[in-house]
Amino acid sequence: EIEREMGMSREIVHKAENLVERSMKGNDPSHDPPHVWRVRDLALSLARDQGLSSNPDSMLVIELAALLHDIGDYKYLRDPSEETIVENFLEEQGLEEDVKMRILSIIKRMGFKEELAGLINGENSLEFGIVQDADRLDAIGAIGIARCFAFSGSRNGVFHNPAILPRLDLSKDQYMKKVDQTAVNHFHEKLLKLKDLMKTEAGRKRAEKRHKFMEEFLEEFYEEWDGRA
Ligand code: ADP
Ligand code: NI
Repeated sequence: EIEREMGMSREIVHKAENLVERSMKGNDPSHDPPHVWRVRDLALSLARDQGLSSNPDSMLVIELAALLHDIGDYKYLRDPSEETIVENFLEEQGLEEDVKMRILSIIKRMGFKEELAGLINGENSLEFGIVQDADRLDAIGAIGIARCFAFSGSRNGVFHNPAILPRLDLSKDQYMKKVDQTAVNHFHEKLLKLKDLMKTEAGRKRAEKRHKFMEEFLEEFYEEWDGRA
């Protein structure tokens, strides 16, 4: 019985991977399939650090939530029908109702703007914290820097403009409008805040090094921009 269930899980994971390929291929590299593979690997690794590897249900919830977390992202919707892709997919897999709801509740609440909107109260499960931390680890450090400039470039944003000051206390609406934003301001408005928003001990530990690297990067960036380097 256990063997049969494991086989079923692997098959669902495989189908989820195919869905990621189909719906995210061709996105700019801040939100392409490799982003999702990195988040899945990070999430599973955080889950092991947090002692969940002996709980196959939790590991499946975490892996599927990580794989599906950016499908239907409002920034990349090609048409409105895509908004329900994930729900439809989970429906079709014959997963237990409880497992399905745990996955959906992670995906719906994990975004930065949801946290700005104060939407993340209620109990945060360990599963939720792990997937959110994994996504946020991929937003900081060297990869985070690359993703920030890739996203900004894909929308024709500028690197930097000293006349445009970062807005440190953004509301959700202001964040979504993204008026006057520059790639460098995004570090101050979001990326440098993520370290202190980590939900798990394992995530917090790994965020440290990535955070320092971003600070060093910015220091060097400003020096070069100002002609001091
Ligand atoms: P979340 O899923 O937490 O809401 P997003 O999908 O908005 O996060 O952002 C994911 C990554 O995309 C960010 O960490 C950043 O690298 C990049 N990004 C998003 N918005 C911007 C922006 N306005 N300027 C530069 N990069 C951005
Ligand atoms: Ni993501």
